[in-house]
Order: sequence, then C-alpha cells, then structure tokens
Amino acid sequence: MLEQFTDKLRGKRILVTGGAGFLGSHLCGRLLAHGAKVICFDDLSTGTRENINEYLGRDEFAFVTGDANKFADLSNVFDAEKIDYVFHYAARVGVKRTTEQPLEVLEDVEGIKNVLHLSNKHNVEKVIFSSSSEVYGEPVEFPERENGHVNPKLPYASVKHIGEKFMESYHKVHGLRTCSLRFFNIYGPKQDSSAYGFVVGIFIKQALSGGPLTVLGDGTQTRDFVFVDDNINSSILALLTNATDGHVVNIGTGRPMTILDMAELVIKVTGKDVKIEFLPFREGEIRHRFPDVSKMRSLLGYRPMHTIEEGVRKTMEWYQGRLS
Ligand SMILES: NC(=O)c1ccc[n+]([C@@H]2O[C@H](COP(=O)([O-])OP(=O)(O)OC[C@H]3O[C@@H](n4cnc5c(N)ncnc54)[C@H](O)[C@@H]3O)[C@@H](O)[C@H]2O)c1
Repeated sequence: MLEQFTDKLRGKRILVTGGAGFLGSHLCGRLLAHGAKVICFDDLSTGTRENINEYLGRDEFAFVTGDANKFADLSNVFDAEKIDYVFHYAARVGVKRTTEQPLEVLEDVEGIKNVLHLSNKHNVEKVIFSSSSEVYGEPVEFPERENGHVNPKLPYASVKHIGEKFMESYHKVHGLRTCSLRFFNIYGPKQDSSAYGFVVGIFIKQALSGGPLTVLGDGTQTRDFVFVDDNINSSILALLTNATDGHVVNIGTGRPMTILDMAELVIKVTGKDVKIEFLPFREGEIRHRFPDVSKMRSLLGYRPMHTIEEGVRKTMEWYQGRLS
C-alpha cells in the first residue's frame, strides 16, 4: 500500500516543525528516504541535534532553528522557498511538563495559527497536524471514536483540540487541505525517557540497569502502543490520501494492553531478572485508552505491521547502544 504512494514524495519540499524531536526526526529520515527535500524546523526545547545528526550536511536536508510560535521565525521559512507539504509536530509535550507549565502550552495555539495562516497564504498542498489521544481525556465510551465524546482534561489536550478545530475550519473556509491525527502512545528508538512519562522507554532503562520497574497503581490501566515506524507509515499515508482531507483520524493499533503486561514484556524481551515495584497511582492519570481504528483502516488501508514484541525489541536495542 505504502510503496505505491511514496513516489509522490520525490522532489517535494516538506516542512517538519518539531523535526528534531522523537517523531519528527524519524519522519525526516523517512521523507528523505522517499526522495523528498526536508526542512526541519525546531527550537531544540526537547528535541536534539543528535536526533538529526545523520541527516545534517545532506543537500536535501535543511535544519532551521526557530520558534513556531513566533510568526517571524516561521514566516522566514515560507519566504525562503516554496513548501509543498507541512507536518506540524512542534509542541510542548509530556503530561507532567505540560501540567506544570500550562501557560507555556497555551502559546502553542500561536504556532497552530502561524502554520495555518502561512500554509494558506503560500498555497501549501496539505498540512498534517499531530493531535493526541489526550483529547479524549478520561473516555466516557469505548472504543474511542473520532466523532464520539471528547473530554480534554489537560491544557495540552485542550490545545490539541483547538488545533483540530482550526485545521477543520481552514479546510472548510479556505479549502486548505488539512488532516489531524490523534496519535495514541508511540514508542521506539530516540524517545525521550525522562521522568516526564514515556513508559516504554522508562521500563527498558529500568530493566537494563537492574530494576525495579516502577508501575503506577496496580498496573491494570491500559494504553494502545504504536511502534514509531507504524506511526510514520500512517502519517505519510494520511498526507498522500485525499480522503483524509478535513478529517480527524485515530492512529493506533486498536489492541490496548495493560501497563503491567508491558512491564512483563519488557522483562521478557530484555531477559533481565528484575522485579516490579508498585507505586501509588498518580492523580489525574488516565485509566484506559482504546481507540476505534476503523476510520484509519478504511481511509488509509493501513494496519500497524510490527508486533508489540518486535517493537519493544528494536527499542531495547537502541537503548542498549546508548547505555553501552
Ligand atoms: N510521542 C507520542 O506518543 C505522542 C502522542 C500523541 C501526540 N504526540 C504529538 O506528536 C508530536 C511530536 O511528539 P514527540 O513525542 O516527538 O515529542 P518531542 O518532544 O520529541 O518533539 C517535539 C519537538 O518540537 C520541538 N518544539 C516544541 N515547541 C516548539 C516550538 N514552539 N517551535 C519549534 N519547535 C518546537 C521540540 O524541540 C521537539 O523537537 C507532538 O506534537 C506531540 O504532541 C506524540
């Protein structure tokens, strides 16, 4: 499915905001592999040069340091050359970080406005916006459907919801082709594993350094884990599929697992003899995630290809490389 599309990326100029971050850097790599010219725009607040080191110096890759929330910074990029596609991934991320600094998250609305205004003005062909399953908050129905209830609890989630609405309205009012992707938990190499809560990376680091693995509550809370390569495949398909224009689409596997099962899987994959320690459940933590992925399947014709075990193994190999 993907192969028949990706030739369409050859020679296209693609702006990736947040391109030095976890997802953005994987995306830049994949777009380059498909023959695109990539402009990676990032303020390096959570992203790193290390993430994009392998692309620096390539003719088809440009790295621009700037703040997407500052109109002039982003405007310079659009003025410098014709941009065909935009992936707007720049955002303040991490539940803990964004709850502690809610006003900083609110500034991301400016970035969304800037991206939409400039993309419309410069006749960009399509904009992909990275939204989040956090828009569902504590879900009131399962599975979580794009046109069902949303219940954003966090400032971060409210900003994502605003972003979706403005993507939709720019499509309706200005005819700008946009699509918002509600990403469920993505994991894989390069993911920041700080105390700000990316559980797979945290478990792997804990296991590799002798444990224990710290599970919040009894570990029966669920998440839908997507390996980064599968997430990138979906995002590229969403860009190249006209049927996603003006839509919001869940990107997940549709097969959630418990945090305890994930901890046990990490122990199995790493082969370490480590214990699990149970800590008090964190106030405000979402109990369950369970996306309806039928829209993703019907519009994109895509199902994630990596088994959870393969994904965790690849992630572990990356951490082993870093820790050795
Ligand atoms: N990783 C996940 O599981 C997940 C889930 C749902 C949604 N998302 C969304 O996907 C996107 C990428 O997330 P990620 O996990 O790669 O996080 P990340 O922190 O690794 O990437 C975000 C990048 O944006 C940059 N950035 C932040 N604010 C910026 C600004 N104002 N101007 C320029 N650059 C800025 C950061 O330096 C970083 O490189 C984010 O929008 C996030 O909300 C991620």
